[in-house]
Formats: sequence, structure tokens, C-alpha cells
Amino acid sequence: MADPTPPSAAAAPLPPGGVPAHVAIVMDGNGRWARQRLLPRVAGHRAGMETLRRVVGWSIERGVRVLTVFAFSSENWSRPADEVSAILRLMVQALMDEVPRLDEAGVRLHVPGSRDGLPASLVDGIAQAEARTAGNDRLVLNVCFNYGGRWDIVQAAQALAARGEPITEASLAGALALAHVPDPDLVIRTGGEQRISNFLLWQIAYSELYFSDRLWPAFDAAEFDRALAAYAQRQRRFGRTPEQVQAAAARAA
Ligand code: IPE
Ligand code: IPE
Ligand code: MG
Repeated sequence: MADPTPPSAAAAPLPPGGVPAHVAIVMDGNGRWARQRLLPRVAGHRAGMETLRRVVGWSIERGVRVLTVFAFSSENWSRPADEVSAILRLMVQALMDEVPRLDEAGVRLHVPGSRDGLPASLVDGIAQAEARTAGNDRLVLNVCFNYGGRWDIVQAAQALAARGEPITEASLAGALALAHVPDPDLVIRTGGEQRISNFLLWQIAYSELYFSDRLWPAFDAAEFDRALAAYAQRQRRFGRTPEQVQAAAARAA
């Protein structure tokens, strides 16, 4: 059978993907960063907050439209009680300190996740922050807190069932906690582990993955740019052949 693609086209460099519209990050490595410095784990979480503030700025500068980060997982409740309560307090504090700045920078904040088990002060702080920034459109920042990918799929299915709606791929996607944004183009995990740990499950079906050995508090602009550069070199095929993707890109150019 004749190969429909000339050899020269097959050998051409893959079309660059550009800047990912939606970057999702598993912010891992706070505890190890603190331990290396003989500090309590919570000092790592505090330093990790500073990193997040910087990453928001870099994302805006680079033209990323949606940044989704994993701050506290459904499973993180099984950590020592003092670490869990320190993280909850840090989140309340962060909302108070950061929201005015985020609002000024044009960031729309969402906190996807279950409200079950969260203190009332945090539930209120989240509602106020989401309401205050709802009109912003420079960057959407999703801080996944008390979030799990399995929780998300189950709550979406339950919502559809309660409304008596048929379950289809589109209706389920529309009931997920991240229905207000397109799926992530790029998922970064810091801290050296190569796993998803119940972060977005449904939404990462076709995301590109980038694993960084940097511990989250030490994640810097150069490493962020390395992740974006790696993404730009990937060819996203969505089940098609490389030749089909190249032909479609040539037609679009
Ligand atoms: C990520 O850092 C933050 C949370 C999970 C809350 P870790 O606290 O998991 O840091 P390591 O993995 O122990 O270094
Ligand atoms: C994932 O990190 C959760 C967050 C970054 C919030 P973990 O440190 O909880 O993941 P595991 O336990 O190493 O898989
Ligand atoms: Mg960890």
C-alpha cells in the first residue's frame, strides 16, 4: 500500500505546541524541603505558598490562561493532626493575605473540592474569595483543596442522578468541579514522584505530563520554562497518526 505522506514531510520537525492554555501542577515536596533544612514540615508548606505566588506571576507573564494546583488531597487527612490543622490555618491565612493581590492582578480564584470537614472560617473565606474575584479574566486560578479525582467523578455522577439527567461524557464533564475550564494541556508534578495521587483523573485523559525533581519550594522560573519548552516540543495526537497531525497543522498554517 502506498504511503500517502512523502518521506520529507515525515522527517520534518514536529510542529511546536506553543504555550499551554491550561497548566496543572501537583505541588509536591514541601515536607522534604523543610526536612533538608531541619525545619518543621509546616515551614515547607509556608515556603510552598511563596512558590505558588511566584508561579501565578510567571503564568500571567507567559500567557497561560488557567493554572490549576493541588494543595490538599482527600487522602491528606490521614497525615498527623497537627500538620493537617496547620495546613487548614495556612489556607485561611493565605486567602486573607493573597486575595486582594490576586484580585488586583485580574485573577479569578476557584477552590474546587469538597467542603466536608473544613472549618466554617475556611468555607466562608473560600466563598468570599470566589465571589470577590468572579469578574476577573486575566488568569483562572484553581486551588484544589480537599479535592480528589475520584471524589470529583462521584459527586458529578451523583449530581446528574439527583437531577434525573442522562449520564453521557458531555454531561458528566459538565458536572465536574472543573467544568468552568478546558482540560489541562500540561500537568507538572514536582518532588520527583511520577504518579497522579488522585489529582484530576477525568480531565487529564490527554494532558502532557512533566515530572520535575525539584522540591516545590525550590521550583523556579527556569524550571517552569523548561516544562513549557518540553510541552512545546510534544506532538499531541489524540489518537491520530503523526502524519495526520502534521497534515492538519500544514492546512491550518
Ligand atoms: C505537598 O508536599 C503538599 C501537600 C501534600 C499538602 P508534601 O507535604 O507532600 O511534601 P513531601 O512529599 O512530604 O516532601
Ligand atoms: C499529592 O501529594 C497531593 C498534593 C500535592 C496536595 P502527596 O504527597 O499527598 O502524594 P503521595 O502521598 O506521595 O502520593
Ligand atoms: Mg508529598
